[in-house]
Amino acid sequence: MVPQAPWVDKFYELYSAPYLPTSEPARLRVEQGLPKILKHLPEKGSEVLDLCCGGGLYLFGLEKAGYKMTGVDMEPRMLKAARKHAKETGSKARIVKGDATNLRFKGRSFGAVVFMGAATGHFSMAEVKKIMGGVHTVLRPKGVVITEVNDHIALFLSGMYQRILYEPSGENDVISIHTRYDGEKGTFNRLFLNLESDKKFKAPFQIWAPWILNSIMDDAGFDQKSSETGAFGGFSRILVHAKR
Ligand SMILES: C[S@@+](CC[C@H](N)C(=O)[O-])C[C@H]1O[C@@H](n2cnc3c(N)ncnc32)[C@H](O)[C@@H]1O
Repeated sequence: MVPQAPWVDKFYELYSAPYLPTSEPARLRVEQGLPKILKHLPEKGSEVLDLCCGGGLYLFGLEKAGYKMTGVDMEPRMLKAARKHAKETGSKARIVKGDATNLRFKGRSFGAVVFMGAATGHFSMAEVKKIMGGVHTVLRPKGVVITEVNDHIALFLSGMYQRILYEPSGENDVISIHTRYDGEKGTFNRLFLNLESDKKFKAPFQIWAPWILNSIMDDAGFDQKSSETGAFGGFSRILVHAKR
């Protein structure tokens, strides 16, 4: 049984377009992000795990590029979208329902793990520590982990931070308002409003920065290899770490 944070389902009901494989925002993300991933991956034909794969935009992009893909996510809506796309396109990717904080791939040995789309925002630092412990066990020696993480500190310091955001998402455009910062947990709440459907909900997001992830990775047994601008907005970074 995979636990499900109650708000995760609501979030992706209201705001899923950037994570669906056929949407325009997803196409733009992959176009920018895929080359940044590919240059760090092991030889074609290697097994790659897409952790928190969402609708699978990177999963399918990497499969096309020649990798044997497995995707893990826990959100039914996302899994459904990914499986539908796999069926329609004849993809052979394995799409598994699972909890990233409790990976169950006994005896598997991936050449790389990708963790894209600032999925870290869903997790506390303790949870990411747990995730990376699991990633370490499923990776082969010298295997790489590619994580796209938001740099919220850079955003705040840039002066470009906006408390109220208009987020286009196809038919489900939403407004999100940052409502409460919790300095003990390092989270801020976002209140999402869909003006057309009247739906709204509140969700907590973790504040991240590359140096926080780098410290977790070091403790989990990974060396940092590189860092560059991500494909998830101007304040995202793509960090590459290799298993020591
Ligand atoms: C921001 S989306 C990123 C999706 C995809 N990686 C991309 O780049 O488009 C984060 C994904 O993490 C998934 N997720 C959140 N918590 C999870 C958990 N504990 N285990 C597995 N997936 C989870 C969500 O369902 C969602 O699909």
